[in-house]
Order: sequence, then C-alpha cells, then structure tokens
Amino acid sequence: MERFSRRFFINFSTVLSAAARFLPLKTFFSDRDGGIFAGKGVGPAVISTWRHGLAANRAAWRILSRGGTALDAVEAGVRVTEDDPEVTSVGYGGYPDEKGLVTLDASIMGPDGNCGSVAFVQGYRHPVSIARKVMEETDHEMLVGAGAEEFARRHGFKEERLLTGKARQGWLKWKAGKSGKDDFLPSRENHDTVGMVSRDAAGNLAAACTTSGRAFKIHGRVGDSPLIGAGIYVDNEVGAAAATGEGEMIIKACGSFLAVEYMRRGVSPRKACRKVLERIIEREGEKTDLQVGLVALSRSGETGAYSLCEGFEYALARDGGNELRQAEYIIKCESKRRS
Ligand code: GLY
Repeated sequence: MERFSRRFFINFSTVLSAAARFLPLKTFFSDRDGGIFAGKGVGPAVISTWRHGLAANRAAWRILSRGGTALDAVEAGVRVTEDDPEVTSVGYGGYPDEKGLVTLDASIMGPDGNCGSVAFVQGYRHPVSIARKVMEETDHEMLVGAGAEEFARRHGFKEERLLTGKARQGWLKWKAGKSGKDDFLPSRENHDTVGMVSRDAAGNLAAACTTSGRAFKIHGRVGDSPLIGAGIYVDNEVGAAAATGEGEMIIKACGSFLAVEYMRRGVSPRKACRKVLERIIEREGEKTDLQVGLVALSRSGETGAYSLCEGFEYALARDGGNELRQAEYIIKCESKRRS
C-alpha cells in the first residue's frame, strides 16, 4: 500500500478519523454489512476503477490533502488516466472505433447536483474537463460530437491526434481478424473506463468518469460513461457511485443512480453495488462473458465495490494510503477477461 505525504493535513475530519480507531465511534461509522472498510467512515476518500485508478487517486489525493474539493479531485484524478498512452480504454491512447477514429465520452457531477457531460468527442484528450466546462459555463448538461468539439475549441482546449501507434496496431489486428461474413464484430474486451468517486474534508461528494468506450465499436456508439445516472451519479445527502464495464447493461439498469437509491434506503455502498448487479442479472440472465463493476461512497464516508464477474480491481485512497483491491464478485466467469 502506498503512503501519501500528510504534510499540513490536519483538520477536524482527520482528527475524527484517528479518534474513530480508538473510540466506540467505530460502530457509529461502520459498514452495516460488515464490509471490508468497516470502521473507516470519516475523512476524505477517493475510490476509482481498475489498476489505473492508483495513479488517478494520487492526483486526486494531492488536491484533497490540501483541503481541495471533491469536484476538483475527481477531475484532476481522471485526467491522469486520460493522459496515459498505455491505458487503451481512456483518452490519449484509447482504442479507436471500427473506422480507426478515437471517440471519447466523459461526465462529471458535483455535490450541488450540477453535472456536465460530452460524448462522441474526437481530437481532445481531456473530455472530462470539457464536461466540466459544459457544467459550469452553460445551462446545458450534455454536448456531443462536432458541437462538443466546437465548444472545446471556443474554450481553448488544444486539438490533437489521439490515436497512438499501439492503439492503431490493435485496431489493425482486430480488422485483420474480422470475419468476412460479419459486418460488425466488436471486441468486448477493453472498456475499462476510469470512474472515480470522492469525498472531501468538508464531507462533499463528487464523481467523474471518462472512456474511449468499447474497443472497435460501431462508429457513433456511446456507452454509459457520459450518461448521468448510468456512468456516474451523486446525491450529496446520500452518496455517489460510478460504473465500469459493459455500458449497454449499465445504461439499462441506470446503474449508478440505482446504487445511490439503494444507499438512500440505508443499504451500505458495498451492498448497494451488489444489488445493482443482481438487478442486471435478473434482467439479462447470468452472462458469464460480460463484466460490470461499480464503486460507491456514502455521505458518511463508507466505501464499497462489487463486480458481476471475477477480476474487477479498484483503487482506494484514504487515511493517507492508496491501495489496489480485488472486488468481491457474483459470478465466477468463464474467462479472466477484464472488460
Ligand atoms: N463503460 C464504458 C462503455 O461501455 O463505454
């Protein structure tokens, strides 16, 4: 587990956090389901999806540890993943669609219930920041395609080529392997969206997610990530959630909204994530070749995660540490695919 520098980071919430370790406060703040984070329910926290969440968490924590807001933290956090050419499911270096075009989706939501999102954006590596501009500079919630790109240009975002050599090679390989009979053979690998939820020292919540979507998707396909309620959701009085994996299934379940609604009924974040997945199974049956993962955080700072299939990892930063964890899962799937 990484340890962050805790310079100057003494505030009421961290004092409470320390006290909770020694006092009966633990029972007050504990996960009612006895989850793995029981007893660590106060202070800032960041939870994000997949291994690349570790680097994203570091950037988010730098902001939280200086007393910054959850909203700034989630934007700064997922921008790190957008910048990483080795992550082929997000931002710069993301796999393209069937035509070889990198098209990006992202969303962000803050504690006041405001949100912004963009979809089908080409040529801009930080769609999450464009989404934030939509939220803060307009009275719209979502911009797509050419309109979103024009908006980005007007707000000074730099246009650039996002297709890396590695992603292009992956696309060429996929094209070469396409059956002559199929006009569409999407890869169901590689939609490891980075989704992040955060709580700051003031107890406010925010969420963001950003993705290049399913690798080699049909041109124009948009997944769950830019859809508020599917890819992310925040209710500052209740909790926040973010989803990753098969966007089509997450959209049909309103995955992140549903997780927050379960929390509203008093269910812990961990169990809320599980209940969303159970709902998906009720609708879709037990599909052992698809993955959906959720991370969630409650108003009181409890965190949780769960996935449909084995193999979902998430990164949790709190109390100065940053750790990769294996999520609990419902189905032991046929393959170890991470999609
Ligand atoms: N979860 C990302 C996508 O399906 O596009």
